[in-house]
Parts: sequence; structure tokens; C-alpha cells
Amino acid sequence: MALPIAVLVSGGGSNLQSLIDRMESGTLDAEIKIVISNKPDAHGLTRARNHGIPALALDHTDYPSREAFDRAMVRAIQESGAQSVVLAGFMRILTSEFLNAFPGNVLNIHPALLPSFPGAHGQRDAAEYGVRIAGCTVHFVDEKMDHGPVIIQAAVPAVPGEETDALAARILKLEHRIYPQAVQWLAQDRLRMDGRHVQLRPAHSAPVPQPENALVSPPLEQGF
Ligand code: GAR
Repeated sequence: MALPIAVLVSGGGSNLQSLIDRMESGTLDAEIKIVISNKPDAHGLTRARNHGIPALALDHTDYPSREAFDRAMVRAIQESGAQSVVLAGFMRILTSEFLNAFPGNVLNIHPALLPSFPGAHGQRDAAEYGVRIAGCTVHFVDEKMDHGPVIIQAAVPAVPGEETDALAARILKLEHRIYPQAVQWLAQDRLRMDGRHVQLRPAHSAPVPQPENALVSPPLEQGF
């Protein structure tokens, strides 16, 4: 059975799109039951509707507290039938009450090699720091921002003098590969958390060519 998931977005939703595309092509064994945005005008909601996926705007400014907002999201997610939650550019920290509703089942993607450069501007902060290797991370979510156990990371060289937007675009391309892959591992029930360490149960499949000019660990599998 396909893993029923909810996707939370705050913006453009290109990562959401990468998940939809892999589901529609049959490589990602998941089904998006609902897309929720805390920004009513997020393009991610339109992307969902374009693919017949229920899309809900819950404006966090309409709620008296973080707890009340998270409770409304939990209710909507549970009513949708989703069991796992995928944060795709969702720019809010979740309460423990939210996380306790989906234990071990909330994933996030961040455009930097955590624990470096958490926050809202991972790529820009890395570029300004002058790193020579940048990248992105998919991790389980805990109460701290961009912090939980790491599932997969992809690294790319940072070119001195390159515009931040160009670096961000190269990182985003890899985000669109590692996120569907990580969600597929979750759907296949191949991830185990052991403290900060995430064990990936090996697949009995042949190695596949990896993206050029990038290092992905664990390596991407067939179809990703
Ligand atoms: C992505 O780059 C994602 O990694 C980042 O927001 C962008 C959303 O783009 N998330 C964070 O910075 C989380 N701290 P998208 O809406 O096109 O998927």
C-alpha cells in the first residue's frame, strides 16, 4: 500500500512538485492525502490543486498561539488519513504536541549541510561564509529547527564568485532527487532511528550512476 502522507509548504512548492512527479511516474510509493500551507497565497497550494490533491490554507496568524495552530494542522492531517508528514519549505517550527501525533514520521529538507547553516537562508549563509562545499539535507524533525537525525545528504562544490541564486539552483536540483528518495525509504519502512543515527536497511539492488559533480550519501537508488 502507498504511504499516505501530508505535505506542508509555505512557498513555491518545487519540492512538493518533485514528490508529485515521482508518484505520478510510479517510482515513489506514496500518496499525498493533503497539502497544507500556512501562507494562503503559496504557489504550492495551486500545484496541489492542479494535480487533484486536496489543498488547505491555514493562516497561522488566525490562531492565538503556536499550539492552537499546530492542533488545527494535526486535526486536518489526521482527518485526511495521512500517517507521515513531509515538510517542503514549511517555514515554521513545530510544537512537541504536533510531533507526538506522528512519532518518527515527520521529515524536513534543508538547503545546507546540517548542522551548518540552519534557518531560513541556508544557501545564502553558506555562500557568504565562503564554504567550498555546499549542499542539502533530509532529516527527521525534532523540536529544534533543522536539527533532527540525518537521513540523506548531498554535497556540491561551491564556486567562488558564483551568485547565490546559481548555487541555490544547483542545490535545489539535488533537493528534488534526495527528498523523493528519502520519502521512498520511509514508505518502504527501511529507516530506523538509533539516537542521532539513522540506519537504512540495504536494498538488494545493483548500484546506479550518481549525479555528476555531487556526492550523495547514502547513494540514490534506481529511479531517483
Ligand atoms: C527549499 O530550498 C527548502 O530546502 C527550503 O525552502 C525551500 C523551499 O522551496 N527549506 C528550508 O530552508 C527549511 N529550513 P520550494 O517551496 O520550492 O520547495
